[in-house]
Amino acid sequence: MILEKVNENPFEQFKIWYQEANKIETVPIIETMCLSTIDANGFPDSRVVLLKSFDEDGFTFYTNLNSVKCKHLEKNPFASLCFHWQNLKRQVRIQGKVSQVLDSIADEYFASRPRGSQIGAWASEQSEVLASREILLKKVTDFEKKFENQEIPRPDFWSGFVVKPFKIEFWQDQENRLHDRFQYSLQNDNSWKIVRLNP
Ligand SMILES: Cc1cc2nc3c(=O)[nH]c(=O)nc-3n(C[C@H](O)[C@H](O)[C@H](O)COP(=O)(O)O)c2cc1C
Repeated sequence: MILEKVNENPFEQFKIWYQEANKIETVPIIETMCLSTIDANGFPDSRVVLLKSFDEDGFTFYTNLNSVKCKHLEKNPFASLCFHWQNLKRQVRIQGKVSQVLDSIADEYFASRPRGSQIGAWASEQSEVLASREILLKKVTDFEKKFENQEIPRPDFWSGFVVKPFKIEFWQDQENRLHDRFQYSLQNDNSWKIVRLNP
């Protein structure tokens, strides 16, 4: 699919591609994205997280606030995201500033999660050393008991983050490696400058 032009609003463009990816059953998990942060020594660190929502305020994921990624973001609240929709031969790259979502939004999302995931969030000290799997499973049992017959509240060490983009690139594979690339950069007047890049 040749890209003659892209939408002047990058969020609209993302929505078009996201919806197209969603229609193709063989795309495994379209919301999978690579999140890269920078550690205290300036070294990049990447891991996959799941996109839970997106709008013009940014792209939201949820995680444990004591995790490695959050320690990075506390010191350096900038991140990049990268989506790869293999069946459509597409990539989307995003650079943006990261901020924590409101507690009310995190509460609402946490409440919508399956009970097992809610217990998992309580039981996991994400990114800390774990001596054995038994210890983790024992914590799961303990929290199941603790919250038996009641709604499970969101742990105060678990929340969401929004990556608000200042740069977004849409990449479409083409023959002979002559790929289409459109890059949006946020300008001082809040408009988006769009340029085509060499493949
Ligand atoms: C498909 C997939 C989806 C994942 N989704 C999330 C997620 O939404 N939030 C999260 O904290 N970790 C998620 N993880 C686990 C992370 O990749 C990572 O192991 C974890 O967040 C710890 O990262 P950190 O030590 O860099 O903080 C996911 C992993 C995979 C493979």
